[in-house]
Amino acid sequence: MGILTRSTVCRKPNESMRLIVTTFVGIVFGFLVGVSFPTLSLTKLNLSNSLLTTIDFAYTDYKKPGPSSSAQVSPPIGNNGNSVNATSEKIWVPSNPRGAERLPPGIVRAETDLYLRRLWGKPSEDLTSTPKYLVAFTVGYDQRQNIDAAVKKFSGNFTILLFHYDGKTTEWDEFEWSKQAIHVSVRRQTKWWYAKRFLHPDIVAPYDYIFIWDEDLGVEHFDAEEYIKLVRKHGLEISQPGLEPNRGLTWQMTKRRGDREVHKETQEKPGWCNHPHLPPCAAFVEIMAPVFSRDAWRCVWYMIQNDLVHGWGLDFALRKCVEPAHEKIGVVDSQWIVHRSVPSLGNQGEAQQGKAPWQGVRDRCKKEWTIFQTRFSRAERDYFKAINSTSH
Ligand SMILES: *[C@@H]1O[C@H](CO)[C@@H](O)[C@H](O)[C@H]1NC(C)=O
Ligand SMILES: *[C@@H]1O[C@H](CO)[C@@H](O)[C@H](O)[C@H]1NC(C)=O
Ligand SMILES: *[C@@H]1O[C@H](CO)[C@@H](O)[C@H](O)[C@H]1NC(C)=O
Repeated sequence: MGILTRSTVCRKPNESMRLIVTTFVGIVFGFLVGVSFPTLSLTKLNLSNSLLTTIDFAYTDYKKPGPSSSAQVSPPIGNNGNSVNATSEKIWVPSNPRGAERLPPGIVRAETDLYLRRLWGKPSEDLTSTPKYLVAFTVGYDQRQNIDAAVKKFSGNFTILLFHYDGKTTEWDEFEWSKQAIHVSVRRQTKWWYAKRFLHPDIVAPYDYIFIWDEDLGVEHFDAEEYIKLVRKHGLEISQPGLEPNRGLTWQMTKRRGDREVHKETQEKPGWCNHPHLPPCAAFVEIMAPVFSRDAWRCVWYMIQNDLVHGWGLDFALRKCVEPAHEKIGVVDSQWIVHRSVPSLGNQGEAQQGKAPWQGVRDRCKKEWTIFQTRFSRAERDYFKAINSTSH
């Protein structure tokens, strides 16, 4: 044995020598690098180690299913997972979402959802039920009792989403439902800021109806399932529950009627409406408790401006998203709410030039309203101008 070993070693002196030299050079080089960039090389080493482990793990997993099935399981390499045609064929599908044209349509998932999944088990068995509606509240922890009461009016058919403007999230776990809810925490932003960022139509696509509500609504006389029944029955694409009269009421349209299920038109003060089918006499709900159908939201989302965070003026423009607006926008009277008018978000403002925080917020709201109106009418004018110039 000893002779054999020695002769084996002796037979290939060049290779052994090369190995030793390479190793030595490697060690010296590594040492030098290590000396010059001690932290960097350490990080790199850790990174590549964990990367290798991941790859190993994935590869081992692929090989696991015994000899008979392993023949059908190909390793995760090659374009499109098709090793034969991988390089010969190129994919270009113009009808795919922009940027995804190189993918075979069968693998493209253009929309998503907010459903919670497990980390284990079969993906197809993750969901015990698929929520059909979404309710998003913009909340501060101070209003937790009110939100707790409100959430209880929404059945298990709803995904509950909370936008936190005060940075407090785990505190809400005192409520059992909070552990199933989705919490998005960004300090000092408004409902429409969150809605624009987190409720893209492609993200909330599976939901038939989307409630985007303030935190200061009293829901003693409200039930969400009943509300949706009425909205469906009366074909309302954009709606809100009626408001209890005489409290926080700005417009006649949103005032609850005691004698009917829904209303779509109203009388306003003389001179307020240019046309009985136009806001604020019809085709109009306020922005405190709107409910959108999937299709209506797909339009409204695009109308929300990134910089106009208070959403003032949006209510008057909602009618641009549905046709005919005076039939598809309305107020549900038999499921109604109370507007408590807690100026919670106003208190998140900042005192400036001797003005109270809420005053600064209020001023900005009004400013945004003007900007939005101007932007909208300009956009319309530009559109018609372009249409006119191409058609003549
Ligand atoms: C490769 O592409 C050709 C032409 O598109 C097709 O006929 C063939 O079935 C493909 N081969 C495989 C293995 O998919
Ligand atoms: C959820 O929706 C289904 C189908 O519309 C309905 O039958 C069921 O009653 C709803 N759940 C609750 C708690 O209302
Ligand atoms: C031209 O544009 C105006 C708005 O600026 C519009 O009222 C009018 O209907 C348009 N004319 C045609 C022919 O499209």
